[in-house]
Amino acid sequence: MEENKKVIYSAMQPSGIPSLGNYLGALKNWKNLQDEYNCIYGIANMHALTVRQNPTELRQRTRNLIILFMALGIDPEKNILYVQSDVSAHAELAWILNCFTYMGELSRMTQFKDKSAKHADNINAGLFTYPALMAADILLYQADMVPVGEDQRQHLEITRDLAERFDNIYGDVFKVPDAYIAKVGARIMGLQEPTRKMSKSESDNDNNVIFVLDDLNQIANKIKRAVTDSDTEVRYDPENKPGVSNLLSIYSAINGKTPEENALEFAGKGYGDFKKTVADAVVEEIRPIQEEFKRIAADKAYVDKVIKEGAEKAGYIANKTLRKVKKKVGYPN
Ligand code: TRP
Repeated sequence: MEENKKVIYSAMQPSGIPSLGNYLGALKNWKNLQDEYNCIYGIANMHALTVRQNPTELRQRTRNLIILFMALGIDPEKNILYVQSDVSAHAELAWILNCFTYMGELSRMTQFKDKSAKHADNINAGLFTYPALMAADILLYQADMVPVGEDQRQHLEITRDLAERFDNIYGDVFKVPDAYIAKVGARIMGLQEPTRKMSKSESDNDNNVIFVLDDLNQIANKIKRAVTDSDTEVRYDPENKPGVSNLLSIYSAINGKTPEENALEFAGKGYGDFKKTVADAVVEEIRPIQEEFKRIAADKAYVDKVIKEGAEKAGYIANKTLRKVKKKVGYPN
């Protein structure tokens, strides 16, 4: 890690293959940050335990997510890629931070409220104290910035509050992290329900979500089946034309033009041509990622090595912070 660069921290839960929305909204940006910042990216497999998991699948998805990060072009030499549970400092700091987090604060978390409604049979304490673990993730690495989506804003706020609270009592221990607001960041909606975020949990329809490891033909078909409207004009107007606007946003996230500029390309053309162009663009964006994924996944020894070295590099930084914290709170050593 280079001394003079700011530190970016982010993590993603291994809760399935990332969607096109995760990719265009977050992961593509993670890759772009790697030259300017020291980036530390975690697989939040401890967070994943807050809902019931199949152990074999969880292990596989954790590994696959590391492989996918690399396939997207996130370089494990330049950045730190690691698995959260490989660094025990996360669990240790999370406990300490739990003792500085108020029930009232945690009760206000909208994600807790949503998830407890969804998993009414398993409202466990981990789900409730999830933000303390997330704060531990970020604060262990003295991160300057955290790229977060709308749904994680509140958790970053509580992280900042915890850092300030702790520092007020014990002196300078943690850096108070800022949100990193991406210059470009697409909010991709469902293909069948374009007024809601692209997410498996938002719809039962398989065509609503594209997963980055979907078969390429299937990806093209999902786009061709995307909901549009009874009009024929390709125009960026999320309010009145959510389906068409979403396809324009997807296209924009890939080619870097604005959705309005992209709409011009389809003046006088029908939705058929439009969908085909967007489908081709998505397929060509995803194809090399899938090829890389296959290539890297086949090299088991290399993947093992990346995971092991990632844990060592992350652990080195995390334990430095943890040692300070332990001393401050009065652990014997
Ligand atoms: N809670 C985040 C999510 O579900 C994942 C996460 C865990 C995270 N630790 C983090 C994100 C630290 C940013 C920083 O998406």
